[in-house]
Amino acid sequence: MIKPPRIAPSILAADLARLGEEVALIEPHVELLHVDVMDGHFVPNISFGVPVIASLRKATDLPLDCHLMITNPTAYLEPLAEAGADIVTVHIEAVPDPARACATARELGLAFGLVINPPTPYEAIEPFIESSDMILVMSVHPGFGGQSFITDVLTKVERTRRFIDAAGLATDLEIDGGIDPTTARAARDAGADVFVAGTSIFHAESPVAAIAELRAAVA
Ligand code: DX5
Ligand code: ZN
Repeated sequence: MIKPPRIAPSILAADLARLGEEVALIEPHVELLHVDVMDGHFVPNISFGVPVIASLRKATDLPLDCHLMITNPTAYLEPLAEAGADIVTVHIEAVPDPARACATARELGLAFGLVINPPTPYEAIEPFIESSDMILVMSVHPGFGGQSFITDVLTKVERTRRFIDAAGLATDLEIDGGIDPTTARAARDAGADVFVAGTSIFHAESPVAAIAELRAAVA
């Protein structure tokens, strides 16, 4: 069943020298905070990691939706849980044994999600939908904010939505990359219910107004 839309600003696009203020500004208007962890190995970029998540935990009550673009993500689940992460999403392309990663996350009290990159076929993720709390369909190649939405991935969103509904699951279906009011609307129509947006929120003149526009688009 598709849930009410939730908005997850990606702090990758925030002014990181003023991260606390940026989060305080958007906090009353959104449901989740999306935290992009990159290691310069799984993706060709480095962002931030466990110490930033620990600081965010003290600064906000929003659930921290930690998107792990890292090699060997399972090894980092315990420090992430200790730092105060709520949801961890790991790439299907980075985990040889998704069921084990899921079990480890659950033992640590984390919600678990799987992420699928644009070139990876839907079939790779289907066997693991039932045991995941969230499926994240990437609508850009991971590693950088500010890229254009890849429309082709909407087919994957539709197929995932069909599977979730046919099996009567409550799995969240998140979309990440190039999300603005127009692409968010297309993703909502395809069945997404969690919308990550970095550039369209934090680079807007008014992030709060940008969130309101996104919300209207997916209502
Ligand atoms: C890309 C990240 C995204 C990114 C989204 O690797 O996973 O979360 O921050 O940024 P925009 O909204 O700018 O595409
Ligand atoms: Zn992300």
